[in-house]
Amino acid sequence: MKYPIETEPPVDLSADEAALLREMPELDGVGQSRRTFMINSAAGGVGLFAANLLAQEAALAQMPLAKGAATAPIKAQNVVRVGLQVNGVQQTLELDSRVVLLDALRERLALTGSKKGCDQGQCGACTVLVDGQRVLSCLTLAATLEGREVTTIEGLARGDQLHPVQAAFIKHDGFQCGYCTPGQICSAVGLLGEARRGDVSHVTADVSKTTTRLTDDEIKERMSGNICRCGAYPGIVAAVQEAHSGRQTAQTWGFATDTQLASLRKEDGHETV
Ligand code: FES
Ligand code: FES
Repeated sequence: MKYPIETEPPVDLSADEAALLREMPELDGVGQSRRTFMINSAAGGVGLFAANLLAQEAALAQMPLAKGAATAPIKAQNVVRVGLQVNGVQQTLELDSRVVLLDALRERLALTGSKKGCDQGQCGACTVLVDGQRVLSCLTLAATLEGREVTTIEGLARGDQLHPVQAAFIKHDGFQCGYCTPGQICSAVGLLGEARRGDVSHVTADVSKTTTRLTDDEIKERMSGNICRCGAYPGIVAAVQEAHSGRQTAQTWGFATDTQLASLRKEDGHETV
């Protein structure tokens, strides 16, 4: 039997690659170089891996599978019943034991304020509060939350009255596209609790105090797990600082007046109405 590896000039195949080619005689005469074949195989493998991940995620969250995302349904395993409070409402969920809090919130309770950015603990977009402490919901198994209290961005306001951190974010323009904002605000609310308890951070100068006054450097350090791709950081720091210190600082933006809008339209060549 003849294999490409024996008929072509030596190339830098690893032992695993060479073994794989020996296992697949149908490659003989395919017309691809071994390297091209290996690259394509790798790409195909990644595609399959991604499809499997999508299928698994959809199945775990009990969503309809996207067409072509999977060939076989994945059954929920180790189903557990979890009772927890979410935004003050008692919930009982039956979940595959692998389901993370973020998916339970978004797919089972329709609380889509918490965002799935990286899904691996890197961006902070999924931050929520568990018993008042901030956690990354994409890294928190829902099954571990029996009897716990979860607060998401949807649970911070009291009716029409915004949480002080929410109001400060609006006042200080602490967002642009808004994608990271639910996580930023939940993280900031958790951070204010940490300061009240006197939790120290990497930049705390005096660790003997029982409460922490948040300098801008403290806020930047403690919010560093929340990424904002729009770069709204100056507004975020100002908002957290105002919510923490209670010192009112001037709003740096305002809605345009009718006269200003009319003048802008004129400058743009549009007639005023
Ligand atoms: S989605 Fe959880 S940290 Fe990015
Ligand atoms: S406001 Fe756009 S990512 Fe933060």
